[in-house]
Amino acid sequence: MPSDNTTPMLAKEYDVKINQTIPYYSEFYRQTLDVIEQCGFDEIYWLDLGCGTGTLEEQAFQKFPAVHFVLVDPSEKMLEQAKFKLENRSVKFVCAMSDSVKYENCFDVVTAIQSHHYMREQERKKATECVYMQMGLYGIK
Ligand SMILES: C[S@@+](CC[C@H](N)C(=O)[O-])C[C@H]1O[C@@H](n2cnc3c(N)ncnc32)[C@H](O)[C@@H]1O
Repeated sequence: MPSDNTTPMLAKEYDVKINQTIPYYSEFYRQTLDVIEQCGFDEIYWLDLGCGTGTLEEQAFQKFPAVHFVLVDPSEKMLEQAKFKLENRSVKFVCAMSDSVKYENCFDVVTAIQSHHYMREQERKKATECVYMQMGLYGIK
């Protein structure tokens, strides 16, 4: 059966299979959350690019009392899984590729865990420029 996203796994099987495919995958989430905790934000506006099934967010909501997410992914099926997991939470879902998302100076945190290696060099460059824009850092060297 063809996949419904860029990974070789169906969205509904992703959570189980990613852990079988990449041992210690949950370390990506744990270490990301630890770094953000160290920043000491009172409230967090957070953009996650290539969010997949929303596992990072599920864990973030347990750790941080005031967090607001925008979740971006080009796969409707991945977003469907994330919506199911994150019902009634402060989340906006956007079906798009990272390099086409336009926000300016809106976020404290931008993450993209294991999602930008699918892009070609030019797309990745554009996506990275978008991240600088989203965090209000454009033009800062
Ligand atoms: C390996 S999964 C990682 C999902 C999630 N970040 C995690 O760590 O569980 C890769 C995700 O990147 C998404 N993706 C693929 N190409 C993308 C692009 N150009 N922009 C944003 N997300 C993309 C896929 O749909 C998929 O959900």
